Amino acid sequence: MCGIIGVTGSADALAVIMEGLSRLEYRGYDSAGVALQDGGKVWTRRRAGKLAELVEAVGDAPARATAGIGHTRWATHGRPDDRNAHPHTDCTGRLAIVHNGIIENHAALRAELEGTGHTFASDTDTEVLAHLIESHLDVGMDLAAAVRATLAVAQGAFAVAVIHAGDPDLIVASRRVSPLIIGRADGLGLVGSDIPALLGQTRELYAVDDDQLVEMRADSFRITTLDGAEVEPRPLRVDWDLEQAEKGGYDDFMLKEIHEQPRAVADTLLGRVTPGVGLSLDQTRLDDGELREIDKVFIVGCGTSYYAGLAAKYAIEHWTRLPVEIDIASEFRYRDPVLDRNTLVVGVSQSGETVDTLQAMRHAKRWKAKVLVITNVVDSSMAREGDAVLYTRAGPEIGVAATKTHLAQLVAMEVLALYLAQLRGTLYPDEINDLIHQLHRLPEDIARVLESNDHIEAVAEQCKGVRDFFFLGRHVGYPVALEGALKLKEIAYLRAEGYPAGELKHGPIALIEEGTVVVGVANRGHLLDKMLSNVAEVRARGASVVLVSTEGDEATAALADHVLTVPDSHELFAPVLTVIPLQLFAYHLAKARGNDVDKPRNLAKTVTVE
Ligand code: G6P
Repeated sequence: MCGIIGVTGSADALAVIMEGLSRLEYRGYDSAGVALQDGGKVWTRRRAGKLAELVEAVGDAPARATAGIGHTRWATHGRPDDRNAHPHTDCTGRLAIVHNGIIENHAALRAELEGTGHTFASDTDTEVLAHLIESHLDVGMDLAAAVRATLAVAQGAFAVAVIHAGDPDLIVASRRVSPLIIGRADGLGLVGSDIPALLGQTRELYAVDDDQLVEMRADSFRITTLDGAEVEPRPLRVDWDLEQAEKGGYDDFMLKEIHEQPRAVADTLLGRVTPGVGLSLDQTRLDDGELREIDKVFIVGCGTSYYAGLAAKYAIEHWTRLPVEIDIASEFRYRDPVLDRNTLVVGVSQSGETVDTLQAMRHAKRWKAKVLVITNVVDSSMAREGDAVLYTRAGPEIGVAATKTHLAQLVAMEVLALYLAQLRGTLYPDEINDLIHQLHRLPEDIARVLESNDHIEAVAEQCKGVRDFFFLGRHVGYPVALEGALKLKEIAYLRAEGYPAGELKHGPIALIEEGTVVVGVANRGHLLDKMLSNVAEVRARGASVVLVSTEGDEATAALADHVLTVPDSHELFAPVLTVIPLQLFAYHLAKARGNDVDKPRNLAKTVTVE
């Protein structure tokens, strides 16, 4: 979740690094730092806080440095202050390293190094690597060999970039689990933790796989395995341009991304769901023969991706009659789930890099399950490692709170459900055709929901003094309630509980009192009457009620203090529409409270540590 960039061969390395860091800041932002080659020395500067603090602090940087590394940090070891910010240096100050991940055996390594006279200047696990590399340099290794020897004993997850004053043209970088890519332009070598960091300089990008090491110079580069075997560079396909990653006139990336949802969903459906033609998943490496053998499905993810999976469970079970288990990735991998070669494990991850989901996919593969990855990032670690991949084509998502990628995930899994139903013959062809037409209509309906933005803003304004919220739903409205509550927690920092409405009486109703706001997902569906009974119960206890309801449902509107409407849709597609008013509700409440919605406190866009 930290961001890394390195450059060599630039006329102004500092400018390239600062531009790259500004595009990385969303990955983690409690501190930032830079190290530059400075004529036989290494110059470093680190600052706690947002990137602006570092920008102010680099006024006296060496002019015309041609190589350097930079980092934005999200703390894992040691407080987020100046001394724990990266880059970290060795005892001589001639070596600097930036790191994303966690070195799990850092305590033992640190004790050994202190025992041999190394002095530490921070509480981080990263600094251990700096001193370990130094100890190998001391016995005559070159920088690449010293990094190789260091990483051979490091346990855990890492992406690192290292420079040394003794070889001012060189950056050595490597990864295990944490993401790393490299880029080339004329006389310019780049390393980075993700694509937007490098896109400002080049589109010529290459993948780096686990346990590979890069020696990047201005005029050349080389990739080897940690054992020293030469690796043929594998170009990385990039569908994004820099403009796509900018705010496009909206106040925040999050609002822009919410408004991009019709496009995101249309692109995800493109070529896969065509009225009059049918369903096609032929770009996913899925083998129909193997899929027919599947007798059980697991869906695994974290956060918003998990909730997308929870909603998809209803559709897959209903249409395919396959049993579906849904798991939080950090639980799945440690609970010994029952997996075999006829199990389909669907890993859902916007980034394709979330460590728990990545490790869950690896666990499933070890047990011979078929792994299908649903991700938004082409060539991400999960995309590369899955047996099959279904890309959501939502475009880059910068806002930390996921929105358009959530809708794209929902739709991708609906398509998967229909595809499986078609293969297994559990739906008639005319039923599938009808559903295809309804899916195809969704982008238009999403655009209609977005037209109520101003109304939702007004409702949020009236709720801005409230501190406690309940979100209730039944059936597919339940995961929507959970996602609505999560959004409110993430960006508005308000207490919000998502609950299945039928469970209310078993405890949470005790918390309902005058002034509590209950947000109910009460669109048309076979459980609407039961949902409305639950709404009546909370109203009777003094709650104010905000209901997401289907356009024209007067009886529902009569039970609510505020109504947020969505067009009618097939019940199993409804989460794609009903979640949008809740995204906007959270967004406007957060703005009304003066929060930075794109960079909510304590959160990171991509969580690459456990
Ligand atoms: C973090 C983000 C969430 C996201 C979750 C899973 O917690 O803040 O918005 O839902 O990670 O990320 P993934 O990339 O795997 O979907």
